[in-house]
Amino acid sequence: MVDSGDATAVVEMQGITTQFGSQVVHKDLDLCVRKGEILAIAGGSGSGKSVLLREMILLQRPTAGTVRLFDQDAAALTAEEGLALRRRWGVMFQKGGLFSALTVSENVGLPLRELDVLDAARIDGIAAWKLALTGLPAEAAHTSTPTP
Ligand SMILES: Nc1ncnc2c1ncn2[C@@H]1O[C@H](COP(=O)(O)OP(=O)(O)O)[C@@H](O)[C@H]1O
Ligand SMILES: [Mg+2]
Repeated sequence: MVDSGDATAVVEMQGITTQFGSQVVHKDLDLCVRKGEILAIAGGSGSGKSVLLREMILLQRPTAGTVRLFDQDAAALTAEEGLALRRRWGVMFQKGGLFSALTVSENVGLPLRELDVLDAARIDGIAAWKLALTGLPAEAAHTSTPTP
């Protein structure tokens, strides 16, 4: 992790315990990620990496402990505050997976569509531009994305 001194805490987890039935996945875990830091979580399969990430992005609540995101208590957020926070982060799926029911272009444009500030034609244009930057041929935009 890069030490960036007193920079703002972006993710703070304290005393996190996660349990599924009798299986304890995390016990009294503390973690803090500050602005500008890069954190890698390493561990064997089934050790609790994905569950920890799910707890950081409001997809799952720990059994005990507190999660603070941008200095707000995740457990005390209104639906509106939760939505505003969710718009501040991006998540890439394992193996770069895309939504298989959408075309490549629709996948690329999805975050912009969710923001709901640009019209569909503008979003398609931006998606085409982003895809061109990758070197993919233009026709790739309209292909479906079968899961690997
Ligand atoms: N919703 C769930 N219900 C029950 N057990 C779960 C659930 N989600 C994850 N687990 C269990 O928690 C453990 C940690 O899972 P996970 O975080 O996915 O591991 P990994 O480190 O491989 O990402 C595993 O034993 C998994 O089976
Ligand atoms: Mg995982």
